[in-house]
Amino acid sequence: MDNLKWWQKTLVYQIYPKSFCDSSGDGSGDLNGITEKLDYIRDLGVGAIWLTPVYVSPMVDNGYDIADYRNIAPEYGTMTDMEKLIGEAKKRGIRIVMDLVFNHTSDQHSWFKESRVDHGNCKRDWYIWRDARPDGAPPTNWRGIFGGSAWTFDEATKQYYLHTFAKEQPDLNWENPEVRNVLYEIANFWLDKGVGGFRIDAITYIKKPEEFKDLPADGPDGMSNVHVATANQPGILEFLHEFKREVFAGKDIFTVAEANGVSTEELPQWVGRNGAFDMLLEFSHMDLDMEASSLWCRPVDWKLTKLKKALSNSQRATSENGWYPAFFENHDQPRSVNKFFPYHADQKLVAKVLATVLFTLKGTPFIYEGEELGMTNIKLSSIECYDDIASKGQYEIALQEGFSRQQALEFVWNYSRDNARTPMQWTSEKHAGFTSGEPWLPVNENYDELNAKQELQDEGSVLRYYHRLAKLRQEYDILLIGSYEELLEADEQIFAYRRVLDKNKMIILCNFSGREKACNLTEIEDNGKLLISNYRDAPNLVLRAYEARVYLCEGRNPFEGCSQ
Ligand code: NOJ
Repeated sequence: MDNLKWWQKTLVYQIYPKSFCDSSGDGSGDLNGITEKLDYIRDLGVGAIWLTPVYVSPMVDNGYDIADYRNIAPEYGTMTDMEKLIGEAKKRGIRIVMDLVFNHTSDQHSWFKESRVDHGNCKRDWYIWRDARPDGAPPTNWRGIFGGSAWTFDEATKQYYLHTFAKEQPDLNWENPEVRNVLYEIANFWLDKGVGGFRIDAITYIKKPEEFKDLPADGPDGMSNVHVATANQPGILEFLHEFKREVFAGKDIFTVAEANGVSTEELPQWVGRNGAFDMLLEFSHMDLDMEASSLWCRPVDWKLTKLKKALSNSQRATSENGWYPAFFENHDQPRSVNKFFPYHADQKLVAKVLATVLFTLKGTPFIYEGEELGMTNIKLSSIECYDDIASKGQYEIALQEGFSRQQALEFVWNYSRDNARTPMQWTSEKHAGFTSGEPWLPVNENYDELNAKQELQDEGSVLRYYHRLAKLRQEYDILLIGSYEELLEADEQIFAYRRVLDKNKMIILCNFSGREKACNLTEIEDNGKLLISNYRDAPNLVLRAYEARVYLCEGRNPFEGCSQ
């Protein structure tokens, strides 16, 4: 236990500042709003807050397009507000974790503005410029992750620049040592401010392939997802180890990298003793419902065994070396209650099922704002009501693929990143107590019933269930360091596993279906003590619809009861 680092024992809470709490009344969340809510966060048992980007940005991708890495976006506050947040959080035992977006900058960053001036500019090589094909077409047929070509032609210098994401997010050229050095300086600048670590954005894309060539088309636009060409390219780990040496090594912080394209088999090279990072946000359990092309209009059916296999593989891959960041939500995903369960399922029960898994897997639970309330998706009436740049791109792709406007909108309802970005629901007052102004994105209509204030008062709420789980995780070392063994692997209704430490075991049983199912595990029958459940009672070992239970089975000392 004492070998564990602080970030392995705690919970991480992710905040999307624009949607969290607005202290100024301009309709958009801000840093002082977060500071106001620190007690709420502390009471959840959180030891680290991951802040999505708060740097100066034109906000084309809500801050993932950075124009100045060393200053705070005025809409979020000032550097003084940031320092205050770091200090106030620290007083409550919470450390602030910054989001480093180093694959790309904003096209409004001074580096890119210089880079595009002329071919001879000293920043030209800081980005990735290529000639057009003889017919003027982009150098390759790669589709950017938000849709459209991954290349944009720049009239001034008659070349294309590469952007994995939107055209306003040009990719940096990591081959250039000047680029790498300035990025390391920026990370160190934030460490000097006292932050507790970093979430590192889109890091698998920083190394580009040696050769830029067309790939087989995966859609009617004749393009292929840029991800296939640029994710996790040979040589990337050398950059990452340099990054670690220059910034993170030997510091009492943690790093968690977003790692699209890294398989669970590769995890040992990426995390752990000899890895580049402490944790990796990999998506094997989140990508179940999507083809590799990541087109929302091509959803894929999935079965529970697929989810269980993905999670179990990740557990095994990090069992001896490395550490797992458990998560079901973030700012890029729909709400988990609607992603993993049908819309008609009892939302409170299923939110608690996911919470049970989140807290009982081996690893650090990452909670996304509002997940602890069981917040749900929204359905806005037209694409114009959405803010998310990916939603707009995916809507266009669906139309190109021949779907009607209504069908294209339905894909957006299911997958839009705005589902997770609606304002946090604090109270049943106007705009859910998020702002006194007009919220930048509509508040989910269910705020009247589903809000933090109400849930704090209701013993049966999702929020109070989170509190109980957090307490269990503090009480039982078995949840921190016990091994993980999957049970009932082939079962399509129940996700079951065992955590074992010395003589003691915990058995976790979660019914992911709306039908009851008997689950006669003899070890529970023998001496299982129910620690927590999302139903009031547990009369027998038949799990009801969306029922979750955690049992403790304490091993008996063989000499117990014997007289000496
Ligand atoms: C991943 C981030 O999580 C997402 O929100 C962003 O749009 C892209 N990277 C680009 O930075």
